[in-house]
Amino acid sequence: MKIFVDTAKIEEIKKVRDWGILDGVTTNPSLLSQTGKPWKEAALEILKEIPNKPVSLEVIATDFEGMVKEAKELAKMGDNVVIKIPFTYEGIKAVKALKAENIKTNVTLVFSSLQALIAAKSGADYVSPFIGRIDDIGYDGIGILEEIIHIYSLYNFETEIIAASIRHIDHVKQCALLGVDIATIPFKVIEQMFKHPLTDIGLKRFLEDAKKADITII
Ligand code: G3P
Repeated sequence: MKIFVDTAKIEEIKKVRDWGILDGVTTNPSLLSQTGKPWKEAALEILKEIPNKPVSLEVIATDFEGMVKEAKELAKMGDNVVIKIPFTYEGIKAVKALKAENIKTNVTLVFSSLQALIAAKSGADYVSPFIGRIDDIGYDGIGILEEIIHIYSLYNFETEIIAASIRHIDHVKQCALLGVDIATIPFKVIEQMFKHPLTDIGLKRFLEDAKKADITII
């Protein structure tokens, strides 16, 4: 499972990159607004910091022409830009047009397996079902993700599935068990994935015993 970090904060991206487990980044206007920097500055900083990994940047226009125009501008910012396009009639049309221009797309705001089916048929490179927000309205986000994985496997669609709107480590575990291509995870949740109380207790004990045994390696 590829790990993307769902953030626009450069310090968080650098940390996950330096841990050696970063495969890409997803942003959206809400995440960019949390950086406290002008959006373009924040986006360029990310693109330069991880030049070989995909970075999703979202369009703001909602009409076909506007989305295509914005996508072309965003694509100029770096070779690793992926254009996030909202799942709408106009958005799906834009995905097809952008594919013809070799611009990579990530269809966002996907909440059902039928929407994901349409996204794949439009030729999207990525589709982002929002697991947590589906849970928020009383439905089963992981269940819908499972449906999407199943449907895509039946038809060998090449669109990669990004499990998005991940809220906690159990979501990540369920994604991994289902074999999803990618999970885009908030930084705090990635940090939590490292943690286990028995690791801390075990390390403390080893260090105490190393002192007792007078172990010094260098
Ligand atoms: O990648 C999409 C994601 O950022 C949405 O997450 O927590 O706002 O539902 P959330």
